[in-house]
Amino acid sequence: MSSRVYIENLADYVGREATISGWLYNKRSSGKIRFLILRDGTGVLQGVIVKQNVSEKVFNAFDTLTQESSLRISGTVRKDDRAPGGYEMDVKDVEIIALANDYPITPKEHGVEFLMDRRHLWLRSQRQHAILRVRHEIIRSIREFFDGRGFLLMDAPIFTPAACEGTSTLFETEYFDLGKAYLTQSGQLYGEAGAMAFGKVYVFGPTFRAEKSKTRRHLTEFWMVEPEVAFNDLNDDMDLAEEFLEHIVGKVLKNRAAELKTLERNTKFLENVKKPLPRITYDEAVEILRKKGTSFERGNDFGGTDETVISEEFDRPVMVHRYPAKVKAFYMKRDPKNEDLALAVDVLAPEGHGEIIGGSQREDDYDVLLKRLHEHNLPESAFDWYLDLRRFGSVPHSGFGLGVERTVSWICGLDHVRETIPFPRMIYRLTP
Ligand code: 4AD
Ligand code: MG
Repeated sequence: MSSRVYIENLADYVGREATISGWLYNKRSSGKIRFLILRDGTGVLQGVIVKQNVSEKVFNAFDTLTQESSLRISGTVRKDDRAPGGYEMDVKDVEIIALANDYPITPKEHGVEFLMDRRHLWLRSQRQHAILRVRHEIIRSIREFFDGRGFLLMDAPIFTPAACEGTSTLFETEYFDLGKAYLTQSGQLYGEAGAMAFGKVYVFGPTFRAEKSKTRRHLTEFWMVEPEVAFNDLNDDMDLAEEFLEHIVGKVLKNRAAELKTLERNTKFLENVKKPLPRITYDEAVEILRKKGTSFERGNDFGGTDETVISEEFDRPVMVHRYPAKVKAFYMKRDPKNEDLALAVDVLAPEGHGEIIGGSQREDDYDVLLKRLHEHNLPESAFDWYLDLRRFGSVPHSGFGLGVERTVSWICGLDHVRETIPFPRMIYRLTP
């Protein structure tokens, strides 16, 4: 057999012999010609089988092929702009590896629950390929952004001794003789230790929230990237966030244009993601809600619908800063000009995709932080190490967390986060 090739590299094989290994995506016949569409994970290729050019065995093999059967095809590669994928193969040989038996996901329409139950197979479809390739590009560009700016990657533990983002969404587990452990809600506290050690770091890993609500924006397990920088204040934090968003959106537009097209994504709003991004205070955001006639009460946190209404005022992501401290986490520093406000920032994506980034300047005063721990009924003993960061050379510092799945959902223009991760975990879904 001729050398094995991946479909994405077919441009180098025009006019030459090649062998492609993959799975049958679709097939059809017309008279003495048979067409098969093969996918190999890197693309799709149309194979053409002409009766007089192949053995009877090969010609008949075509009839036994079912959707998702695995096979190898060999023949001469031709460029053909009309063919799916842009190339065609004059097939000389077909080798069946394994026939698939009644593949459940057919080209007809299926319900979302049916597909979610078969997520392990659904991943083979072109729409899922497009989404997960965009996800990959986002993760790649996140690392590229921080690595290129001298940030150290700091892996934070998954088992933790206490809550970071409120006690109502903690997943609890038994931990040998040491009592209870909790799955991390955020790597931030460890990122802060890293920032004091290395100046600028990013934590990037899975995080867990026992979200009891069933919404299109919440997963119980999601990926978050969390930069943390010593000596940065809230403004520096917002500067970093806007530069970061411009970088990742720019990379997806440049490197994943074909996938965005497959998803029929209107990229108008994505092209607007250029710094500076608008910055408004919480109070200004409340004013927008009031003008638009919602019943929002000042002092509350924004719900999903409020975020959508606010973001509709802007043609790019908007940064909302200085929230009422009482709706935010214990570690946030208060605004010296108004103690009721936290030096927090949320970035709301346009088109109703909601909060993609949550960040803040951190409380750096030992006594104040201790007071906050008590106010939030958090166990002082579990935070003793964290207080050390304020005992030994405390400095102003800030950071933020970007949710990968919300970001994928926004950039791909999806109406639910469930397709943005290979195997989503939600309140009612633990399988496959
Ligand atoms: O706003 P959050 O809760 O912030 C933190 O965890 C901070 N410790 C981050 C930091 O400052 N280092 O979460 C940050 C982001 C949200 O903006 C959202 O994009 C995502 O994480 N997120 C979720 N994504 C999917 N499902 C959930 N249940 C999510 N909860 C938060
Ligand atoms: Mg938040």
